[in-house]
Amino acid sequence: MAEASYQTILVKKENGLTTITFNRPEKRNAMSPQLHSDMYRALNELRYDKDTRVIVLTGAGESFCAGQDLKQYFMEMDSQPDSVRDEVRRMSRLWRNEIIRTLPQPVIARINGWCFGGAFTIVTACDIAIAAEDAVFGLSEVNFGNFPGGEVTRVLTEQIQPKHALFYALTGKTLTAKEAERIGLITKAVPRAELDKEVREIANNLLDKDPIALKAVKEAWYYTFYSSPEVAYEISGLVSERIKHEHGGRPGIKQFAEKQYRPGLGAYKWEK
Ligand code: ACO
Repeated sequence: MAEASYQTILVKKENGLTTITFNRPEKRNAMSPQLHSDMYRALNELRYDKDTRVIVLTGAGESFCAGQDLKQYFMEMDSQPDSVRDEVRRMSRLWRNEIIRTLPQPVIARINGWCFGGAFTIVTACDIAIAAEDAVFGLSEVNFGNFPGGEVTRVLTEQIQPKHALFYALTGKTLTAKEAERIGLITKAVPRAELDKEVREIANNLLDKDPIALKAVKEAWYYTFYSSPEVAYEISGLVSERIKHEHGGRPGIKQFAEKQYRPGLGAYKWEK
């Protein structure tokens, strides 16, 4: 697939791993309307890119993402026609709250620094989130007379216990990466010097896995999360049948039966 170019993000592809870097370091990678448009386009293209099997999202410079661009996303949008504002909001919501979850590839957030407000929904949307221990998180909206808007409150009520998330939403206090790990916002906090090693190790693990299986894990997980037990069970059955069809059988179990590997200790050899 030809490399597309974007104004506010960098996209680098390397042996199955695609890294997207928010690239507005001078604005601490705040999400402008252009960044939403770039992310919306990039992720939709990567969905069909067979050379992308794992995606990492990170930020340029000292910030992961300082949330919505307070000037461009809020102040400047107030004077735009409704049609423009609604389209920006639509893209902003979709790439963070739907597209990442429904991508067939696993997505890892590599949180290298500041992470505020709307950036929480990038973190919650990613399947795995690893942060440098000195990254700083915060629901700062209350500090400028507002509240965690858009889908921030919704995803936090879903994913974090109220006595933790509501505390930070009300106080606007910052939290450390270790605290973010403790309350379930991120997967793991690691010393800064180990951030790249940790992300690479997880990416390599995922690159070893059968993409058909990874897609199914995501589907089963998120559809279960958002549906009743009965519907979840039905979807699980359908995904299971589809996998068998896509594989033309059960190659992983066949290799186990032939004593070619131990599934408890690593992935089977799938055809690339
Ligand atoms: N929106 C727009 N511009 C921003 C944002 C933002 N969210 N965050 C930083 N910037 C800009 C600043 O305006 C400044 O631009 P300028 O140089 O043109 O004046 C530049 O980025 C650097 O910002 P500083 O404040 O000087 O950077 P510093 O490293 O000292 O502080 C910090 C970083 C803590 C992230 C601070 O910029 C900040 O508090 N930003 C706002 C964070 C926030 O409240 N986010 C939630 C947004 S609302 C939402 O997401 C729903």
